[in-house]
Amino acid sequence: MTNIGKDLRSYLDQARAAGTLLEINKPADPAAEAPALIRQAVRRGKPVLFHKVGDSDLPVLGNSLGSRTWIETALGCEQGFADWFGDRSATPVKPRMVPTGPVKEVIENQVDLAKLPILTFAAEDGGPYITGGIGIQRDPDTGRQNAGFYSLMFKGPDLVGLRMLASTHGYDIFQRRIAQGLPTEMAIAIGLHPVDMLAAASHTLMDEFELAGALRGEPLELVKCETIDVDVPAHAEIVLEGIIQTDGLEPEGPIGDWLGYYPLVEDRHVLKIQRITSRRDPIYQTVLSGSADENMLLSLPRTTDVLRAAKKAASGVVNATLDPFLMICVLQLTKRFDGEAMNAILAAFGEVPFIKICIAVDEDVDIFNMNDVMWAVVTRTRLEQDMNVIGNVMGFSRDPFGHYKTKLAIDATAPVENREHYRRAMVVNPEIDLDAWLAD
Ligand SMILES: Cc1cc2nc3c(=O)[nH]c(=O)nc-3n(C[C@H](O)[C@H](O)[C@H](O)COP(=O)(O)O)c2cc1C
Repeated sequence: MTNIGKDLRSYLDQARAAGTLLEINKPADPAAEAPALIRQAVRRGKPVLFHKVGDSDLPVLGNSLGSRTWIETALGCEQGFADWFGDRSATPVKPRMVPTGPVKEVIENQVDLAKLPILTFAAEDGGPYITGGIGIQRDPDTGRQNAGFYSLMFKGPDLVGLRMLASTHGYDIFQRRIAQGLPTEMAIAIGLHPVDMLAAASHTLMDEFELAGALRGEPLELVKCETIDVDVPAHAEIVLEGIIQTDGLEPEGPIGDWLGYYPLVEDRHVLKIQRITSRRDPIYQTVLSGSADENMLLSLPRTTDVLRAAKKAASGVVNATLDPFLMICVLQLTKRFDGEAMNAILAAFGEVPFIKICIAVDEDVDIFNMNDVMWAVVTRTRLEQDMNVIGNVMGFSRDPFGHYKTKLAIDATAPVENREHYRRAMVVNPEIDLDAWLAD
């Protein structure tokens, strides 16, 4: 069993040793160069570490997860990520409180966020954004904690704009804390092992830190914040302790988002940071907005949810993916009955409302290769009977022009009866190792 390290540093050592980490020593501009370089790293499927960005002395890590195949290797998911995540998350492991940890090496009372190498991602973004931090809050009714990624717009030395969509658990907690007259405390933890990032990005009612413990197979160590009643990962690189301001809203945005567009600038809450704690030499982690890096954080945990629901609806389902884009789901099944694929598709739509198009394919199709999936669509569907448009359904909540209320279901599996006519023409020995032949 792979031993998953406690912190981001152990992960970087692992990536470096595997030859997967890209490192850039030349100073990069935080707006004009670093985001574009991260974009290239995303295409190569590798994490990238900048040793100098702008005026800051902090190294910056982008594309932390690298690629699905790399993260499966790093975490030791032999059976594929979705099943690994599903198996592990079945047994929550409570976090362990420790008196102190590396994130307390430096305690800054004088807050100056401008010292962080905060990147500006897209050409028309309204300013720099912290995207690699998880927002942690305590549920006032259960006492449990919730964590999720929230993009934070730099507004001043101690102020960031915060947009928590109404669909998040974080927003629900914030509202209940206001209703109960409690301080609206939120800590932001930056610089985490990808396994903790994946737990935080999950949409689960479980305490995300219990989920992180479940995935790692040992408790996540937490320390108390200095100024608020929130517990944060002891091995994080940086923690910002803040209070969400409730006495006024300020314009936030735009930031090119996961859909690839600039959402409208809207009045949102502001988070006032009152303390920063960190390691002595912290690494600043960022997520390139609108990239595969961001998509993977959202899609990998949700793939497990889809797979579980689809398997329940149709036992022939064997695999699923929400890559390369959360709104497109591909299900793979060993079909025994016609109609089974459509049942699985409907279950997937019900489980993850983000999905707009869901395609079911047979076991001989590579679900991680969209060209192969499209080959199945064009050669195995009779559009008039294998495609269903389903209207008036809940989709992505931010939908000013009504693009996400309709779903498309495509059954691209071969009919059971004539399966014989749908066998693929294949070369003998398709997995032959070309490199080995070239080397000889
Ligand atoms: C890099 C990144 C940035 C995100 N930014 C936001 C954001 O600004 N606002 C938001 O509501 N959700 C954002 N999300 C999505 C939430 O983190 C995600 O829905 C998460 O499940 C919310 O957790 P919660 O429901 O437990 O609060 C972001 C996700 C990622 C991966």
